[in-house]
Amino acid sequence: MTLQQLNRTPTSVEEIYREMKAKLHDIVPDVELRIKAELAYEIHQLKKERNAVILGHNYMEPALYHSIPDFVGDSLQLSRLAAETDKDVIVFCGVEFMAETAKILNPTKTVLIPSDKAGCSLASSITAEDVRALKARFPGVPVVTYVNTYADVKAESDICCTSSNAAAVVNSLDSDTVIFIPDEYLARNVAQETGKRIIFPSRLPNPDAIQPGSFDIIGWHGRCEVHEQFTIEDIHSVRQQFPDVVILAHPECSPEVVAASDFSGSTSAMIRFVRETQAPRFLLLTECSMGDNIAAELPDMEMLRLCSVRCPHMNQITMEETRDALRYLRYQIEVPEDIRVRALAAVERMLAIG
Ligand code: 13P
Ligand code: SF4
Repeated sequence: MTLQQLNRTPTSVEEIYREMKAKLHDIVPDVELRIKAELAYEIHQLKKERNAVILGHNYMEPALYHSIPDFVGDSLQLSRLAAETDKDVIVFCGVEFMAETAKILNPTKTVLIPSDKAGCSLASSITAEDVRALKARFPGVPVVTYVNTYADVKAESDICCTSSNAAAVVNSLDSDTVIFIPDEYLARNVAQETGKRIIFPSRLPNPDAIQPGSFDIIGWHGRCEVHEQFTIEDIHSVRQQFPDVVILAHPECSPEVVAASDFSGSTSAMIRFVRETQAPRFLLLTECSMGDNIAAELPDMEMLRLCSVRCPHMNQITMEETRDALRYLRYQIEVPEDIRVRALAAVERMLAIG
């Protein structure tokens, strides 16, 4: 049983080291494990003193992922957990939009992100002003907003979605046409899954010439700087070398890459799929730390990785920064109340969908 499952404070550095070593001996050098076990011990002590909970996204680096979070998961799971916690402090080992969602759900709690540089290329691709302009162009059309956005963008939206419920959220709306922002590829993948036609007004030479009724999803041009790097050539080349490989792609990948893969789903859906599927080897087309995290859990399965692809924003979250977050109660997430209340409505509508 892991420390996470035991949900207790470890009694010594040695205990943490042994547990990390058992899982990560093939993945993290021993000298690094020794240092990180000490850090993890310190973090567990501080977590207890602060009455804090640590949430860790699936993209956290393996030593952090396997030692300090109370819970790990994808964006939707972590949002649900953030909504339920009774702790005073939430430390979010993920990126800023995720910590902001936790604050939206928990205005009276202290929500910390260990680095103030953990952004996201999708979140920075759209502003609240952009959303207001879209709504003015398409009055009455509901706005579905991927959680990978900042609070002021969520506040302009009708409902949020994550990669694990995007199609269900679109289908839940009583409207043939929806505005779906800001991820171009996720929007294209949702259009395919729901049988809808898609258009990108910001790409048209004359956006005013759009005929109402000739499209169903109005998209935006944001891209994940990690997932847009995977290509169909990557897939062909790996399938040529390993014909029995099972390929999984995150829905932030292009529709061509998703179509050429065997499975597409959120980060946790991919982990579940690997756990439940008998295959000799897998290729994960997603952030590369996740491959290490699954490989540590399932050592009998071979994880092929195109491992240059690390999210620079997730990479800002280190164990040193997490310790300092708890020590100095930094970096505190704040969301202006008028924005928070409107963003909360969009997040809660999403959470109400099963
Ligand atoms: P998940 O919701 O699938 O965890 O994805 C979050 C993310 O940022 C993927 O790049
Ligand atoms: Fe944003 Fe892509 Fe990094 Fe996820 S992997 S946090 S979508 S930049």
